[in-house]
Amino acid sequence: MSQGDVKSKYVEFINEALSAENAAIDRITSRIDNTPIPELKERLHQHLEETYNHQDRLRQIVTKFGGEPTDSKADLPKLVPPTTMMIKKMMKDTIKSITDDKKDNPIPEEMELMEIKQDAIAEGSEIIAYETLIAITQRINEIPQQEIISLLKQSLQEEESMKKWYVEKTPMAVDILLPKIISAVSK
Ligand SMILES: [Fe+2]
Ligand SMILES: [Fe+2]
Repeated sequence: MSQGDVKSKYVEFINEALSAENAAIDRITSRIDNTPIPELKERLHQHLEETYNHQDRLRQIVTKFGGEPTDSKADLPKLVPPTTMMIKKMMKDTIKSITDDKKDNPIPEEMELMEIKQDAIAEGSEIIAYETLIAITQRINEIPQQEIISLLKQSLQEEESMKKWYVEKTPMAVDILLPKIISAVSK
């Protein structure tokens, strides 16, 4: 393998992470629009700004090696709800006007709870992605390791702090969402 091959493989690894960050921008933007929880909305605004920086850092690294920063968007890890829940949701969406028995249908608060879990999973997957990139970078001597690692660590630290936010704030979200979920099944 020539040095050029090693560098172009390295650019592929960085672009893979960039593709996930590109997808994260869309997800965070739609979560800001849709979450009913003000504190989460505010935190997501902050993480959106951080995510633009994550993109910039990765683009900087790709460009440094003469590569083309990717515009592609990866599929983010997805929490797959139980089939029964989705069937009920589908029925709710299609026949909601002709049924009175809505007791079993997931209400928006229930869907939001699932989205919150999915948000946290996405952050966890970004953490693993950056830890892997850092480990790869430490093992490739042909590149300016310290400079790149310091960029990657800044992003890693912001992912960790976002993940921590979800761990700490999930009970607050449950306090907001659960009463409505309970009252929907208690009617
Ligand atoms: Fe990110
Ligand atoms: Fe993130």
